[in-house]
Order: sequence, then structure tokens, then C-alpha cells
Amino acid sequence: MRAAAVEGLITEDSPVVGFIDLDAIAVSQAELKQAFAFTSAPVLHAFAAKAASLVPVLRLFADAGMGCEVASPGELAQALAAGFPPERVVLDSPAKTPSELREALRLGVAVNADNFTELERIDRLLRELHPLDAHDHAPALGLRINPQVGAGTIEAMSTASARSKFGVPLRDRGGREAIIAAFDRYPWLTRLHVHVGSQGCPLELIAAGIRSVYELAEEINARAAADPERRRGGRVTSIDIGGGLPVNFDDDRVSPTFAEYAEVLRDAVPGLFDGRYGLVTEFGRSLSAKNGFTLARVEYAKQVADRRIALTHAGAQVATRTVFMPESWPLRLSAYSSDGWPKLGPVCTHDVAGPCCFAGDLVATGRDLEVLDTGDLILLHDTGGYFFTAPWAYNSLPRPDVYGFRVDADGNVRFTLMRRRQTLDEIVAEAGGDPASANSRTSEHSLG
Ligand SMILES: Cc1ncc(COP(=O)(O)O)c(C=O)c1O
Repeated sequence: MRAAAVEGLITEDSPVVGFIDLDAIAVSQAELKQAFAFTSAPVLHAFAAKAASLVPVLRLFADAGMGCEVASPGELAQALAAGFPPERVVLDSPAKTPSELREALRLGVAVNADNFTELERIDRLLRELHPLDAHDHAPALGLRINPQVGAGTIEAMSTASARSKFGVPLRDRGGREAIIAAFDRYPWLTRLHVHVGSQGCPLELIAAGIRSVYELAEEINARAAADPERRRGGRVTSIDIGGGLPVNFDDDRVSPTFAEYAEVLRDAVPGLFDGRYGLVTEFGRSLSAKNGFTLARVEYAKQVADRRIALTHAGAQVATRTVFMPESWPLRLSAYSSDGWPKLGPVCTHDVAGPCCFAGDLVATGRDLEVLDTGDLILLHDTGGYFFTAPWAYNSLPRPDVYGFRVDADGNVRFTLMRRRQTLDEIVAEAGGDPASANSRTSEHSLG
């Protein structure tokens, strides 16, 4: 905080900034690897790009030998730019277009299909790309299963509820048989994928979902082995267990840890780790959230009726979920002086507002903080994943600067600019103000 203030990284022109602790990312990544080191199964830990879709951050994971889970053409392009080899990339978008799929298959990116129609599409594309020997050229191809084990505490983040939009339902009538039939039909289908939810799901619920999918894999493989008719079908050789390790936003403790999660999984699904299946994980928040924070200038503070309102530059554009679902995504805040030292002095109750032009743009209400005033700084803790890295463009507010930092043994802090804030020219250009892009596509239709 003090180094950022001394270096003048928070200015009138850059009143909200994201920071990522690069050494802490390396530690989290090492802890994840260590937690799964007990298994003889090959494990690909794929960072979920959506949590921190910045190429320099992705590059840290690529350089550490990890994989990358992507869910859009943009994330795929970022992953490749960060240096992930295609075979370490896993494409999970829920609504992949044919061209998106074709490109993934051409590159050799692993794909998890969301539904049976997508499997048909992949089959057609594989034949088109490799008419003679489609099977030999297929990358790791899987089917996402919804084990329907129930929701966690945040419905919007729970993907294994009975009626979730994700994957094929395992427990609906005929669901299991339909999945087994798909493996009979497609010899290139070799993976099952499950992701129970993201934040708010207890470890036992996640483990129950993974257990259901493991048992399904066992059944598919046992039936294929026992029945000569099925010999030419696909077998499950790997299981992608998704991400979703919840993050503690209440204080600085990392809880639960990757090691605790691995222990729960080991107890619940021992067979998963005996080396018969390759494993893929897709953690995002647990590798990023606690390794970053947001710093914003307090522009004004005022009293309105019974409210003391601090008007800051951190609102829905960088803390979208917190603003719209405050009960599900509460953030810790701390007050600092403009020189980066913690504020001292009397405490009072604040509503902390952002810069967006709607009344609900509040990152906290009724929060006791040292009295905030113009020029002070507000720190939003644990925002290294899914906050400033995934900004919202409302009010044409710019994507803010993001700095990575490292602290050496003497306490010296070195900052690296990882993403420059948008300029006004860029905002105008992106809004159709770039004459070249605005006029390049005119089309006429006659309905007569
Ligand atoms: C398919 C898939 N995998 C992985 C993740 C990452 O989840 P988390 O950041 O909670 O680990 C998500 C998050 O939405 C997801 O949808």
C-alpha cells in the first residue's frame, strides 16, 4: 500500500487500480500441485482463465507447467498468447459455435461438450477435418455431466442443481443410459467432466458430484469391457473434476486449503486416484482471489440524512457481483490515508459508494471504518479473481490499470504494469467512434 502510494500509482487520472501479488500466485500454484502430489495419476491443473483473464497472469501459470481452462474464443486467444500449448488448454464454453469448435479441434485443444447435440457437432467436424482417421486426430474430448447433487449457498453459482443449465443431467429419467449410449456411439469420447459450482459449495457437495461421475466412468468402462458389441465405443480415460474450491472472504486465512480439499476427495472417491484415470482440475478463484486487491481514491464524503457516504472510484465496474448481490459477495474494506498508511482516528459507519450512475452502486453499506474523506484510499481485499480482471463497461468507465508486484527480502516492492487503463480515445473507438469500424459494414435488405 505504501509503495503504491509513494510511487504515485493512484492518481486523479487513475483513481482505481488493481494489484496482483505475483509471488503469492506462485505459492498458491505450488500448494495446489503439492496437494495432489500423492496420486500416481497424471494430473493437469488448468487455471480457469475467467478468474483472471490477463495474459501476464496466465503466463505465470503457463510457465509453471499448468494448463488453462477457457470458456470463450477470447479466453482461448489469451491462453495461446500466454504460451499454453494447445494440448494443455481445455475449452468449456457452454454455447460453442461450430467455428469455435472447429478451431479448437484443429489446434488440438481439449473440449468438454455441454450436451448431446454438441457431441454430434464434434463428430461431424472431426470427420470433416480428418476424413480418413478422425479418431486418431482427436484431442481429449469429454462430456460435461450434471450430477444433480444439489446447490450450494449461491444459487447463481451452483451448476449441479437439478435444473442447472450446465451439462447433461445424470439423474433425470433415462439420463444415465443416454450418456452410456453416447460413449457407445463415439469412439473418440474419452473424458467425463464435472464442475459442481463456483463459491458457496461445501467440499462434501463437490466431492459427492465427483463421486457420482467417477461411478459413471466405472460403469461405462465395465460395460464396454464386458460386451463385445461395445468394444468399438469410447472409454473413460480421464476425469475433469472442475474447480470451485471456495474462498474465505472474511479474513486473511486461506480456508479451506487445497490440501484439505484433496483429503476430502481422497476419502470420498479413493478410486479416482489409483492411476487408472488421468485427472484435470480447473481452479480459478482459489488461485487468484486472495492474491490481489483493489485500491481506490475517495473523491468525496458527505452526510445524507442518517448516512455518511464515501464516494469512491471502486463500484460496479470493478466489483460487479458485490454491488448486485451484496449478501452473496461481501468484501472486506480497509481505510488508508493518501500516503498509504492505515487511517487512524475515530471510526464511524459508512456506506461506500462507487462512481457508477445508479443509486445501488455500493460496495458496502453500514460499514464501520475510520472516518473517510477526500483523498483517502479504500482497499477492497481479496479481489484478485473475478473483480478488476473482469470489469463491466457501464458508464463507459475505463478498464483500470492493473499492476503485478513482488516484494524482495529487504521489503522493496517492484511493480510491473500488467494491463494499462483504457484511454478515452480507446473508449470512444470501442463505442463505434472509430470511423473505420463503424462504417465498414453497411448492408441493405429489400423485403419486397
Ligand atoms: C467449468 C468451470 N470450471 C472452472 C471454474 C472455476 O471455478 P472457481 O473459480 O470457483 O474455481 C468455473 C467457474 O465458473 C467453471 O464454470
